[in-house]
Amino acid sequence: MVIKQILYNSNDYWKIVQIREIVLRIPLGLRFSLAEIQAESQELIFGIQENDQWIGSCQYQILNNEAKMRQVAILNKYKRKGYGKQLVLASMEILKQKGIQKIYCHARATAVPFYENLGFQTVSEAFLEVQIPHFKMQKFI
Ligand SMILES: CC(C)(COP(=O)(O)OP(=O)(O)OC[C@H]1O[C@@H](n2cnc3c(N)ncnc32)[C@H](O)[C@@H]1OP(=O)(O)O)[C@@H](O)C(=O)NCCC(=O)NCCS
Repeated sequence: MVIKQILYNSNDYWKIVQIREIVLRIPLGLRFSLAEIQAESQELIFGIQENDQWIGSCQYQILNNEAKMRQVAILNKYKRKGYGKQLVLASMEILKQKGIQKIYCHARATAVPFYENLGFQTVSEAFLEVQIPHFKMQKFI
């Protein structure tokens, strides 16, 4: 297993976009728009590989000493094997070294136990995003 930072608009970036569409968008009948992709140019993006194949990713919008974690996705075949946890822990450690003190995310209701397992706390009521219930969750690092 290898976890690496990915450059926006690189070949690896587009492979990760494909994984995110498969895991996060197509099941909801959605695709990424050009505007959404363009808005990612300043984000820190991390991918996870197994046997030289990308199997998942996550990314962060940084604002001062806080970061919003977004688009955490692991391919179906590799879910519940610890890859998501390793990816989030390793990437949060890199952010901590950059001076980030708080991470927050808009967690799908189905993913709340995953983030709780990582020490995140729910700090909002449920709200809708991409037409499904989410909760704001956060963790001080
Ligand atoms: C949510 C997701 C990223 C988790 O990644 P993963 O690799 O499957 O999770 P892991 O195997 O690393 O799980 C880490 C821990 O959280 C727990 N966990 C993960 N998903 C869980 C769930 N749905 N319910 C309860 N516990 C869960 C695991 O049991 C594990 O616990 P352990 O460390 O005690 O063994 C992945 O399942 C996924 O891509 N889901 C679909 C997309 C999605 O919902 N993304 C999040 C959007 S906010």
